[in-house]
Amino acid sequence: MTGAREAPGPRGHWFWGSLRERRSESLGFLVRMHREYGDVVQWRMGPVNRVVSLVNPEHVRHVLVENVGRYTKGSGAQRLSTMLGNGLLTSEGPFWMRQRRLAQPAFHRERLMRMVGMMGEEVEHMVERWRARPDTSAPVEMADEMARTTLSIASRALFSTQVLGEADRVLPSLTVGQQVVNERVLSLFPLPLSLPTPGNRAFLRARQTLDSVVFEIIARRRRGETEGQDLLAMLMEAQDAETGERMTDAQLRDELMTLFIAGYETTANALTWAWYLLSQHPEVEQRARDEVAQVLGERAPGPEDIPRLRYLAQVLEESMRLYPPAWVMVRQAREDDVLDGIRIPADPRLIVAVSPYVIHRQPRFWPEPERFDPERFSPDRAAERPKWVYLPFGAGQRHCIGSHFAMMEMVLVLAGVLRRFRPRLVPGRTVELEPLVALRPKGGLPMLLEPVAASG
Ligand code: HEM
Repeated sequence: MTGAREAPGPRGHWFWGSLRERRSESLGFLVRMHREYGDVVQWRMGPVNRVVSLVNPEHVRHVLVENVGRYTKGSGAQRLSTMLGNGLLTSEGPFWMRQRRLAQPAFHRERLMRMVGMMGEEVEHMVERWRARPDTSAPVEMADEMARTTLSIASRALFSTQVLGEADRVLPSLTVGQQVVNERVLSLFPLPLSLPTPGNRAFLRARQTLDSVVFEIIARRRRGETEGQDLLAMLMEAQDAETGERMTDAQLRDELMTLFIAGYETTANALTWAWYLLSQHPEVEQRARDEVAQVLGERAPGPEDIPRLRYLAQVLEESMRLYPPAWVMVRQAREDDVLDGIRIPADPRLIVAVSPYVIHRQPRFWPEPERFDPERFSPDRAAERPKWVYLPFGAGQRHCIGSHFAMMEMVLVLAGVLRRFRPRLVPGRTVELEPLVALRPKGGLPMLLEPVAASG
């Protein structure tokens, strides 16, 4: 690394570094840092940890695509693995590669297309639940509603069963689990889980509950008491081409928990942000509703409808540009590296951050970046843009395995709701970012549901 220099950035407080600015300005801090210091910025997060943040597409390509072997997911993944175990999101190296190869066929397009009917049914259940509310003029909590539906869909896709039937156990455990994982991922000095603090004890209880639900699902399938052409069946049947090995129960648990949690929360947040943006842009919302009326009318959607609901997909793509649920991807250099003359040492205290939230706001690729405009994703305009400037699902080998699943599901949710309701933000409500592991609106998103006449 001789001759290479340190990345520029704010000096910050002697102890806290720039942590306080990052907390008070939220993600605006990161956008501002890149405006002030350029494409590579370094800032201190407390007394020990440093972050080097990248926005240049060539740098993104270097880290996420070209040199995957030189960067690991590092301590961020270790912290997530307290909940997810050693599944696809958190594992590394040859083990990850084998698991990815085994899981990949489950996400092929034809297989996903077979799920359209199931997804459509779950959306109808939600719409019926909304219609059957005792007081239809009362607001619904959109973030919770989206989570419930994406959870039901993930559960049926994975296990052909409804874990929400176990609502008393599963939902509260997921909530506790996520809360603690969020705290641990964001904490400067996470305490070991073995310390018997109330938080740790609640987390371990929650994880135990979820484990017992998942292990029970696996055991019943192994005993032949349940069946299904679902992801569980595919993962159980999958055999390593070289060794002929199949997954153990513990590996299945980790993969299922990963797919389940990675799959539902991100999707729910993306949808919640889309509802927020649509409520602020009635003309876009009306155009989306017109597309649904024209493509589907009143009938249930089928696989052939997904590519025809193109404007809905654009709305979602633009929502994820402004509010990418996975707002940052973090890596650690395995060996010393140099990026455009800047030193990236192999130091576990140095986080290399690629933030879609910040990259999606770079005016050189996204003119008037704060403006919500689904036309940016029209085929012509999308083709003009360079690669690696739009990353809601990541990039390179570790890109999201569930991206098509998520897009299909989200298009179906928008279509099912838009033809029945016009969701409106509760008057006077303002929306703030809460960038935890996933980016969500702080305090949720209460919305009023104005019914739409059946003719659309
Ligand atoms: C809007 C919804 C979603 C978003 C925004 C999203 C985003 C992402 C991103 C950015 C990554 C890359 C992380 C990194 O490089 O560090 C990722 C990986 C992953 N996602 Fe998603 N995801 C979504 C939905 C889903 C769904 C529905 C599933 C499963 C059914 C899923 C399963 C996974 C898994 C297993 C990985 C790890 C892949 C690997 O490393 O091999 N995601 N996701």
